[in-house]
Amino acid sequence: MRSKKGRVLLLWVLVCPGVTGAIVVPFSISSALGIAMGFIISFQLTQWCIFTKLHNDLQQECASFNRTGLKMDLENKLFGQHLASRIILKAVSEFMSNDNPKKPLVLSLHGPSGTGKNFVSQLIAENIYKEGMSSKFVHVFTSTLHFPNPRLLPLYKVKNSRGFMMTSCSSPNLNPLCSQYQLQQWIKDSVSNCERSMFIFDEMDKMHPGLIDSIQPYLEYYDKVVGVSYRKSIFIFLSNAGGESIVETALDFWREGRAREEIDLKDLETSVSLSVFNNEKSGFFHTSLIDKNLVDFFVPFLPLEYSHVVQCAMAEMKARASEGEGPPDLDVANQVAKDLIYFPKQERVFSVKGCKTIESKLDYYT
Ligand SMILES: *[C@@H]1O[C@H](CO)[C@@H](O)[C@H](O)[C@H]1NC(C)=O
Repeated sequence: MRSKKGRVLLLWVLVCPGVTGAIVVPFSISSALGIAMGFIISFQLTQWCIFTKLHNDLQQECASFNRTGLKMDLENKLFGQHLASRIILKAVSEFMSNDNPKKPLVLSLHGPSGTGKNFVSQLIAENIYKEGMSSKFVHVFTSTLHFPNPRLLPLYKVKNSRGFMMTSCSSPNLNPLCSQYQLQQWIKDSVSNCERSMFIFDEMDKMHPGLIDSIQPYLEYYDKVVGVSYRKSIFIFLSNAGGESIVETALDFWREGRAREEIDLKDLETSVSLSVFNNEKSGFFHTSLIDKNLVDFFVPFLPLEYSHVVQCAMAEMKARASEGEGPPDLDVANQVAKDLIYFPKQERVFSVKGCKTIESKLDYYT
C-alpha cells in the first residue's frame, strides 16, 4: 500500500510541475488526432494535478499539533490531575509526531464526573485543530443521546444491510436514532477528508457493546479498511467506569497523609482495569477492545479537592475577565467552593460533582 502511494507521488512530482510541457506534445505530432489527444491528455493531467495538490494541502491543513500549547493548557487549566496530564501530553505528542503510526491513538479516560475528562478532550482538540471542538474533523458521540435504545439495535442492523437508514440520519447530532451504519459512515467520511480526525465517545460505559464492536475495525492495526486508512485518527472514550476504585485509592492516600501527587499509575491500574472488566453495567468489558489491546492508554482522573475547586473558579473568572468582566476574586472563588458538597460525609475531602457546577455558581455570585 505504501509503495503504491509512493509511486503515485513520484508520478505527481514528475508530471505536475511540468504539466504545461505536455501542451508542447501535440505540436510534435502532425495529425489532427494527435493534437486533439494531446490536448485531452494535458487537460486531464492538469485536472488531476490540481485535485491531488488540493487534496494534499487540505490534509496538511486539517490538523497541526501545537505541543507547547497543549503542555501549557494542561499545566494552567487542568487542576489536580498529575497522572492524566502526564499521560495525555506524552501519548498525544508521540502520536502526532509519528508520520506513520501503526494504528489510531485510542485513549480511554476514566474517573468520577466533573474531574475534567470532557475538558481534556477539548484541550487536545484546541491544540490540534484551528477551530477546536467546532472543527468539522472533531466528532462527539454521546451514547445515550445518539444510540438511546439498545433494544432497537437488531432493527438497526436489519436496516443497515438494506441501507434504509442511510438517508434518514444525516447527522448524529440531530437524529437520536443513529445506527451503527451511520456511525461507521460518519467516521469514514471524516477520515477521508482528514486523516487526523478525532472521535470522542462520551458515556462509553452506557454504550451498547454492538455499537462498540462496529467501530472496532477502525481501531485495529489494519493498513486500510475499504480503501481508507484510519491509522492517523484519534479515538477518545470517556466513562465513569473505574471511578469508584480511583476514588478509593485517592481516599486511602489522603487517610495515610500522603500527597495525591504520590499516587502512581501502578497504584490505580489494577483496580481500574478490574472494575472496567467486572462492571456488569459497563458495555466496555463485553467487547474485544480490551482483549485485543486496542486501547493504548487508560487515563485515570482523580476526584477533586477543595483547593482544586477554588482553582477552577479562579480560572473561570480569569477567562471571563478577558471577556470584559471584573478581575478574578479569591473570596468569591472560596465562597463558590464552600458551597459545594463534599464526600465522604465525615471527612468531606472530595467534591461530589468535581468542578462541574462552577460556571452556574459563579453566575449567582457575580
Ligand atoms: C502554540 O501555543 C502557544 C501557547 O498557547 C502559542 O503561544 C503559540 O502561538 C502556538 N503556536 C502556534 C503555531 O499556533
